[in-house]
Amino acid sequence: MFKYEKMLEYPINIRKKDLRMAKLLMAQLGGPDSELSASLRYFCQRYTMPDAKGKALLTDIATEEFGHIEMIQTMIYQLTKDASLKELKDAGLDSYFVQHKKGIYPVDASGVPFTASYFQSTGDPIVDLQEDMAAEEKARATYENLMDLTDDADLLAPLSFLRQREVVHFNRFKELHDEYKKNGLK
Ligand SMILES: [Fe+2]
Repeated sequence: MFKYEKMLEYPINIRKKDLRMAKLLMAQLGGPDSELSASLRYFCQRYTMPDAKGKALLTDIATEEFGHIEMIQTMIYQLTKDASLKELKDAGLDSYFVQHKKGIYPVDASGVPFTASYFQSTGDPIVDLQEDMAAEEKARATYENLMDLTDDADLLAPLSFLRQREVVHFNRFKELHDEYKKNGLK
């Protein structure tokens, strides 16, 4: 079970509307290497980790990724909430608007809806942890690409925080992976 804390993991207060960045940020809401993909991946995989430590690590990180989904949703909402229909059209978001208006829905930066086929749960802890390490690296690279595409400090600060968390998660998965490999655990 979960207890909800009514606060973001990192504060977000974006003052400038930016539909172009909102569209690009959807990569991290509904894309293959998104926060949604990460959280569901670890929630599913955790049951077949071979010990309590592994189950706890995947549960911890999955839960934190849920908090990151909320951060990305907040950013997209704040970037779009005051947009006019013309501005949405000019930003190429008219195809999004026709189905969702300004509702928050998990698609990637090209408008492709989220699918569970973005991740695996193989039941093999070594294989799953290798996927998890790659997922964290891909998310880190995506955050770096997003940071290269804006100079808005209100966006750069939370993006940099999220990027750093991917590095921490990668290291924690790698530690566990290396320990299992060393001990021949399956
Ligand atoms: Fe992560």
